[in-house]
Amino acid sequence: MEGTHAAEAFASGMAAISSVFMSFCAAGDRVVAVRQLYGGTYSLLRDRLPQYGIRGEFYDLDDYDGIERALDGARMLYCETIGNPRIQVADLPRLAELAAAAGVPLVVDNTFASPILCRPAEHGASIVLHSATKFIGGHHDLVGGIVCADDDVLGPIRRWGRDIGATLSPFNAWLGLRGIATMHLRIERSSESALKIARFLEEHPQVDAVHYPALDSSPSKQLCDRLLGGRGGGTLAFEVSGGRERAAKFQDALELVTAAASLGGIHSLLVHAASVTHTQLDESELEAAGISAGFCRLSVGLEDADDLIDDLERALART
Ligand SMILES: Cc1ncc(COP(=O)(O)O)c(C=O)c1O
Repeated sequence: MEGTHAAEAFASGMAAISSVFMSFCAAGDRVVAVRQLYGGTYSLLRDRLPQYGIRGEFYDLDDYDGIERALDGARMLYCETIGNPRIQVADLPRLAELAAAAGVPLVVDNTFASPILCRPAEHGASIVLHSATKFIGGHHDLVGGIVCADDDVLGPIRRWGRDIGATLSPFNAWLGLRGIATMHLRIERSSESALKIARFLEEHPQVDAVHYPALDSSPSKQLCDRLLGGRGGGTLAFEVSGGRERAAKFQDALELVTAAASLGGIHSLLVHAASVTHTQLDESELEAAGISAGFCRLSVGLEDADDLIDDLERALART
């Protein structure tokens, strides 16, 4: 589906990501990454890899000059197609150009977009990976990861995963194949509903900001049109006014939407970023990543979009 020659399944998204880093890098190597990443990937690069002498360096998604300079002598460039947590679209062709000029691979986490919205290998990525726990599985009942690349690139990653036992279990592989059969329908439906919800939230007086790439107001709109066919995917973010306490109450007042981490499945899930997905970041890192006290991420499932809007409206009114 990603258009690469091969793919290898791993026990989780993080098993896939760490296997890419560990099989590619040795002590003394440097990974250049964009800052807008899933919190687990960020802390792997910031805290864990330095224990093995591998350094992660972070640059804003659109700091092309900084990235270009940093790539000199680096081992790889790493980003997400749709970046956590502000749902920003990466300019993959431009990043691929910078990586190619430096002679390093561009590695793209395509979890949020799925191969239905975007195939990063067509834009110059050498390695595309997924947390299959999300849209690929699609039903909140498996944990898995996939790395897609051409065979010569995939070989060492595959061997690393097998050597450390990070391979996917047979039952989770079966659940993943079950999920893939409906992925195109789920992505279309959740993208449609997410846009409707984003437009509703944009007009709501108790919502300070909405982040969704298919909105006309989004700074990512042009990239969304160019790279994602104008569809924003099933994940959006918004900032509830009134700070951390209000956001926590709002989360508790939801009835149809479940307050839970993860995304990309049949049920709608909401997380308050500062207390769930990005706990690894301190106050200044939260600010640098653009995560305010009321910042919530909503993964839109397959429920009726109007029912979801009613639920959000009720919860905002109650808090
Ligand atoms: C973009 C992204 N990549 C990777 C992961 C990690 O995946 P897993 O939970 O399957 O280890 C997540 C988890 O939320 C994610 O959102």
